[in-house]
Amino acid sequence: MRAGVVQELMARIAGSENKRADDEFTNVKLMKDTTAAQLLKVMDYYGKSLSVGCMYCHASGGKWDEDTKEEKNTTRVMIELVNSINGGGLAKLRPNRNGQTPKISCMTCHRGNSTPGNAMLP
Ligand code: HEC
Ligand code: HEC
Repeated sequence: MRAGVVQELMARIAGSENKRADDEFTNVKLMKDTTAAQLLKVMDYYGKSLSVGCMYCHASGGKWDEDTKEEKNTTRVMIELVNSINGGGLAKLRPNRNGQTPKISCMTCHRGNSTPGNAMLP
């Protein structure tokens, strides 16, 4: 499902894959420093992390730039949360065995659940 939508959008942006995401798309507030193709790859990763399709966060009718869905706005909060944890606390750790500074991502908490908080209820 997601793969097909990504493929369709990749075809639509053909020739502009390596443009900055905020030059190619109209309402990118946080993921500016990435390419258009990379943004779509990350979108697929969001879906995978939560086990949801694109429409979980996006309005139907191909209006990808609309901010009408609560889930899309929540995701912007989540992106800032991830950036602050990676850039703050975790950046103070020494590199791990692979020589990389440990980072968290959506999958770290969500693991295929849209609402990971529920898993912690007694
Ligand atoms: C968990 C929520 C979530 C899911 C799932 C998701 N998106 Fe997004 N999407 C966002 C957010 C948030 C933004 C805005 C990012 C920003 O402002 O930097 C965005 C932005 C976009 C944009 C740019 C729109 C514009 O013109 O500004 C496109 C295109 C897009 N998504 C496509 C997809 C596709 C295709 C899928 C499925 C493969 C998908 N999204 C799945 C949350 C999601
Ligand atoms: C530190 C753990 C953590 C990380 C990292 C994290 N989330 Fe979340 N997320 C949560 C918790 C907790 C909730 C609240 C869910 C609940 O109500 O149980 C939540 C809620 C959400 C929701 C709203 C779900 C709903 O239906 O109410 C979305 C969408 C979401 N996260 C997307 C993301 C995305 C995309 C990322 C990566 C950019 C991300 N999250 C990273 C912990 C996390």
